[in-house]
Amino acid sequence: MKEKLKIGLLGLGTVGSGVPTILAEHREKISQVTGMDIVVSKALVRDEKEKQYQSERFDIELTTDIEDIINDEEISIIVELIGKIEPAKTYITKALESGKHIVTANKDLLAQHGGELVALAQRNHCDLYYEASVAGGIPILRTIANSLAADDIQKVLGIVNGTTNYMLTKMVSEKQTYEEALAKAQELGFAESDPTNDVDGIDAAYKMVILSQFAFGMNIDLKQVDIRGIRGISSDDVAIASQLGYEIKLIGSSEKNDGGIAVEVAPMLVAAAHPLASIRDEFNAVFIYSAGVGESMYYGPGAGAKPTATSVVSDIITIAKNIRLGTTGHMFNEYQHDTKLTANDAIFGKYYFSIEMPDKPGQILKLTKLMAEANVSFDQLLQQKSDGMRAKFATITHTISKAQMLEVTKQIEKIADFELLNTLKVLEG
Ligand code: HSE
Repeated sequence: MKEKLKIGLLGLGTVGSGVPTILAEHREKISQVTGMDIVVSKALVRDEKEKQYQSERFDIELTTDIEDIINDEEISIIVELIGKIEPAKTYITKALESGKHIVTANKDLLAQHGGELVALAQRNHCDLYYEASVAGGIPILRTIANSLAADDIQKVLGIVNGTTNYMLTKMVSEKQTYEEALAKAQELGFAESDPTNDVDGIDAAYKMVILSQFAFGMNIDLKQVDIRGIRGISSDDVAIASQLGYEIKLIGSSEKNDGGIAVEVAPMLVAAAHPLASIRDEFNAVFIYSAGVGESMYYGPGAGAKPTATSVVSDIITIAKNIRLGTTGHMFNEYQHDTKLTANDAIFGKYYFSIEMPDKPGQILKLTKLMAEANVSFDQLLQQKSDGMRAKFATITHTISKAQMLEVTKQIEKIADFELLNTLKVLEG
């Protein structure tokens, strides 16, 4: 009989419920690759009511007391799938101090307290794995840490929030309003419990902080990420972008320049020819530019019970193998580099400006004058048919620095009668 490896599971929600299911469905293969029989022996539930409900779904010992799991000496790995910061952080801290290995999908926690938890895991010779924290079912962290270990990554671009990608897709293909698309994403269960984190770009920013650690070895504070969500995007913007040959997507970008990195989350205009433009609905994708491989893209479901639970179980399997080989206590990501941020005058891109202005002679002259003063040249110009009073005007610049973009934005905002509707970065194919 094979050695048993016992798991304590914290949370039996969407992803938590998927873990015993994946372990059971792929039991034979998992047992073959690990040489162990892996079972969830105890699960933490919220209260007596949930205990009653889950006892009818799972043949697992259920408890409402975390100490029952942390003090169980037979449990080697604790899988945290409660989410958010507390009580998850306290539970993981206690578990690591008791010598338990940890698997978690908690992006909020890893992005904000990852350094502290990784150090605690090291001090206690424990493993801490979190593949499912970024892009659910896509094995992106392991790919960067292992398969691209020999490469020099220059840029990571991601559609890493399924909710907003779903919303933008529906706003284009089915002409849904922002509100309709959000309600549907919530109904389908992709959205966070508080969808503010999705639509304001916070969820994507957490994931970009973690991706930046893996790709560049740099620990970025959330405050150092330039974050903008999709609240300001209207069906009008989506239509203008499409006329100019672009799709609007919420893009997380982490780019190395001048020895530093710039990390940003914002709606961007993605050229129809760019591989990220074809990512639809709630799917995620991470596009990497690196010196050796060149361009590569990793695509798949970013949420959902089975895809995310599959990533969680792959972490459990990694730890099981480490236990067998006696190699636990190494970091998931061993690449560390001094953190340096790129200055705005060393970050380059093309930008889209959409402006509403009076429909009378001389208005575009004002715009061209301030653009010329900032040394910014136009690549594309588009004026929509106006109502005779106000005209909507959109332009895409040639490549400029972020500092130039900010200067132009400031100057446009100063012109009386002009309303700057949006400034968005442009990704060419
Ligand atoms: N709310 C997240 C999303 C779920 O929409 O992508 C996965 O982190």
